[in-house]
Amino acid sequence: MRRVVVTGGAGFIGSHLTRALLDRGDQVLVVDDESTGTADNLSEVRDHPRLDLRLADISDPALVREIVAGADQLYHLAAAVGVALIAKQPIETIERNIYPTQLLLSEVRHHNAAGGNTSFFLASTSEVYGKNPKDCWCEEDDLVFGPTTRTRWSYGASKAIDEFLTLACHRQHALPAVIGRFFNVVGPRQSGAYGMVLPRFVEAAVNRRALEVHDDGQQIRCFAHVSDVVAAVLQLMDTPRAFGEVVNIGSDEPISILGLAERVNARAENPTPVKYMSYTEAYDKDFEDIRRRVPDLGKLKSLTGLSARYRLDDIIDELVEQARAR
Ligand SMILES: NC(=O)c1ccc[n+]([C@@H]2O[C@H](COP(=O)([O-])OP(=O)(O)OC[C@H]3O[C@@H](n4cnc5c(N)ncnc54)[C@H](O)[C@@H]3O)[C@@H](O)[C@H]2O)c1
Repeated sequence: MRRVVVTGGAGFIGSHLTRALLDRGDQVLVVDDESTGTADNLSEVRDHPRLDLRLADISDPALVREIVAGADQLYHLAAAVGVALIAKQPIETIERNIYPTQLLLSEVRHHNAAGGNTSFFLASTSEVYGKNPKDCWCEEDDLVFGPTTRTRWSYGASKAIDEFLTLACHRQHALPAVIGRFFNVVGPRQSGAYGMVLPRFVEAAVNRRALEVHDDGQQIRCFAHVSDVVAAVLQLMDTPRAFGEVVNIGSDEPISILGLAERVNARAENPTPVKYMSYTEAYDKDFEDIRRRVPDLGKLKSLTGLSARYRLDDIIDELVEQARAR
């Protein structure tokens, strides 16, 4: 039986990953401080005999030493996430995204040097590409951030530091580590509270309210179902040639945000028209957005052979049905 640690395991993606790890027979230790997640996300598996849930901050060095000592695999998902959260709490974003990663990597490195064999997954983000103008982003593309006076870029930059550190540990110490750059991930249990667009739209549509579209709605995004994302993460961690690699994970089916709003309204049979809102009203006057965000998934496919099982309409239907049931 593998012993696995999931940081941020009470969050949206972490709770699905935890469930999948339990289903495949692992012993799972979740560490989550419920800053944006909640233990309720794990209610289906809360009493599972192979789940240990610690409601604690992963920046505690004694805790990190203890959990790394018993881990065959460590999935690091804990982070400050969401455009709205980043706009409001830039200090927490930077601190939460850099220090715990540094602490975990240092501990895993020392543990492995002393004879351990812990492998490490870093949940990174498409935000590291910044505002690269290419139509389709592949892993070797340049990171193009805006100025440091715009807080938005602190999320991508902090995750880029995490990536540099993870890759350095792989190069200098042969640490078995893989980095997944998640593009927009959606599915059950995602909260709209921190600016995530699809849960916001679905909630508004089932309650017959107008869907708030920022700016002109022509921003292009791709939405992947969390189950497809979790399958990719698990497969990468079981693929030794993925160690030392950065891999895009997501969907490559592009849609504009306005198109998404119209699709959600159509499938939820919401007659209310969309409402446009400026970035200044939605965030602040310094907010800068990314116009187009589409991944090249060639590397993921060549390493795992996986492709998406869920189409966007199926995802919307599932979320609408669940929102109606609530
Ligand atoms: N959801 C997406 O579309 C998306 C896109 C790109 C990258 N990601 C990355 O995926 C990961 C998971 O994101 P998510 O969407 O599930 O967000 P989430 O907010 O639901 O999950 C993050 C979890 O980490 C926990 N956490 C944060 N700081 C912690 C700390 N110091 N100690 C313990 N727990 C802590 C939170 O309570 C939360 O449960 C993050 O690393 C995020 O950067 C997500």
